[in-house]
Amino acid sequence: MNPSDQFSRHTITAALPYANGPLHIGHIAGAYLPADTFVRYLRLKGKDVAFISGSDEYGAAIMLRAKKEGISPKEIIDKYHQINKKAFEDFGISFDIYHRTSEQIHAETAQDFFKVLHQKNQFEEIESEQFFDEKAQQFLADRYIIGTCPKCENPNAYGDQCEKCGSTLSPTDLINPKSTLSGNTPILRKTTHWYLPMQKSEEWLKTWISEGKKGIWKTNVYGQCKSWLDQGLQSRAMTRDLEWGIPVPLENAKGKVLYVWLDAPIGYISATREWANQKGKNWEDYWKKSDTRLLHFVGKDNIVFHCIIFPIVLKAYGNGFILPDNVPANEFLNLEGDKISTSRNWAVWLHEYLIDFPNQQDVLRYVLTSIAPENKDSEFTWKDFQARNNNELLAILGNFANRTLVLTNKYYNGIVPKRHQLTDFDAQTLSEMANYPQKIESLLEEFKFKEAQFELMNLARLGNKYLAETEPWKKAKEDPQTVETILNIALQITANLAILMQAFLPSSAEKLQKMLLLDQLSWADAGKTDLISEKHQIGKVDFLFSKIEDEQIEKQIAKLAQSKKANISAEPLKTEIEFDDFAKMDIRVATIIQAEKVAKAKKLLKLTLDTGVDQRTVVSGIAEFYEPNQIIGQQVCLVANLKPKELKGIMSQGMILMAEDVDGKLVFVRPEQMVKNGMTVR
Ligand code: 2FM
Ligand code: ZN
Repeated sequence: MNPSDQFSRHTITAALPYANGPLHIGHIAGAYLPADTFVRYLRLKGKDVAFISGSDEYGAAIMLRAKKEGISPKEIIDKYHQINKKAFEDFGISFDIYHRTSEQIHAETAQDFFKVLHQKNQFEEIESEQFFDEKAQQFLADRYIIGTCPKCENPNAYGDQCEKCGSTLSPTDLINPKSTLSGNTPILRKTTHWYLPMQKSEEWLKTWISEGKKGIWKTNVYGQCKSWLDQGLQSRAMTRDLEWGIPVPLENAKGKVLYVWLDAPIGYISATREWANQKGKNWEDYWKKSDTRLLHFVGKDNIVFHCIIFPIVLKAYGNGFILPDNVPANEFLNLEGDKISTSRNWAVWLHEYLIDFPNQQDVLRYVLTSIAPENKDSEFTWKDFQARNNNELLAILGNFANRTLVLTNKYYNGIVPKRHQLTDFDAQTLSEMANYPQKIESLLEEFKFKEAQFELMNLARLGNKYLAETEPWKKAKEDPQTVETILNIALQITANLAILMQAFLPSSAEKLQKMLLLDQLSWADAGKTDLISEKHQIGKVDFLFSKIEDEQIEKQIAKLAQSKKANISAEPLKTEIEFDDFAKMDIRVATIIQAEKVAKAKKLLKLTLDTGVDQRTVVSGIAEFYEPNQIIGQQVCLVANLKPKELKGIMSQGMILMAEDVDGKLVFVRPEQMVKNGMTVR
């Protein structure tokens, strides 16, 4: 039996995205698209599903962003909650509810969890010293502190991590720590927090995950959990000293809020409560019944929170809460050779895609599923996006459906023709067709969306092969019965596609069902060889997909190039020098009077300069950017007293000053107007 058939209902959650920025394709490929595909499949099978998500609206990051922009956190979350909710809707992610953690029902639910765990003595109260900003009058979350990395001397390392060398740090490791709120040096101050002693749950977690989920959870997920468990768990603070968050519901906890990773997953429960209230359902059925299957769709950075921390909280609360049956997490999606980054604007934003490619939600769905980072990181490129649309969706699926429907209209005025005596090839094609639903179903049940979609396309390939080999257009006159049979079979394949596509390509599936004038198709119908009956009248034919032109792709690539340019940042400043150090340099204006390439050195030009004092040779690494004859006669600034150095057998007497432009090209630094050679630059 399929795993999903072993349960009476499903609670399916997709990670609550932080409401401090828009959604990008990495989010979609990581959690929302696989979740939505799975939910659509379950619904087609008539299952009882609650598909839950919403905005994660607390946490230091949101507050930091608000402070930076000089607005309130509320303004940030209101803005992005709306943008993201709408983008999900427009993209066709079919949540039953898209809730918010800033809602009252969520605060109540999360506080209730805290209180119950506290009453059950599930927390340790621990006092420690943490950085405090006296000017901003607040404790500093790790990200609010920057300083010099003790490992690589990067002056801009964060309190939790150095992004230059990748080291994990703790704030007290930083040399010369500074608060990002005020720029001041923070002091260490004592503070008390409530910690979850996760080590106490190690035993049951090992039985549940290490033994129980081996071979069941995806290897990337299982592997990450196992390594956490093997390394040994530690106590983790469940409260924070922050202004923005859900207040800790204890008398002696003024100014303290719940750790965002404690409240966020509880957000799934509060969202379910809200949804159940609205629909007249009982939320507890979806969280406390053993015949309910709980699945969390997340990206790889969320694995530990959903597989270890949240289950500890659920179990500690008790009262019948179920644990996740599976957490089908994906790895990361990269973009055009680089990591997706919100701060560097290196992303394809969902809301912008929906504007630039109107009514082409399914193209993005198709491409993101085709390249889904299911087992390892994968990569999105615009050229690949275009190719997959033009060569696969359009050329294979769209083309097959279109040929079948157009011929049915042309030969039979849209009335499904009769099937006569079958050839072996006809029978074989029908029986191959009938196997696809089971193949796709098994893959979906294993969360192998990429392969499942590939099989969907194989069914369209089967259809194309069938038409190509039977060539009905050549036989219309001399062999009408054969052509009737061929079109009938092609229509059965088309109708089957219209069912199976629904999970992956919902708008195109709907469009195709409209063209076929078939509705109410359910998963159980898939595989039938008489899905569309003789004499059924089909509707008007339209194209399912359209070609994506080079210009559209070039526009997107140019947009990314803009982000690259905007992101080239200046190097950090070098150590301070005395005026005397500067005065030692003799920088002169000189004119290039000769220039030639240096043999066997792609980058070097040999220049002869008139320095006003002498004529001398300088070897300069600018050959990639300038042709020799292009620069003769130009003035430059020369460090004239630099010790001569031999380069490729030529003695270079000095160095000319260059700066790098946004494209990485070296450009000359020179006086604004011509001056006499030999003039000093100071
Ligand atoms: O990583 C994130 O974007 C988190 N906001 C996900 C939270 S998932 C859940 F716990 F709510
Ligand atoms: Zn470092």
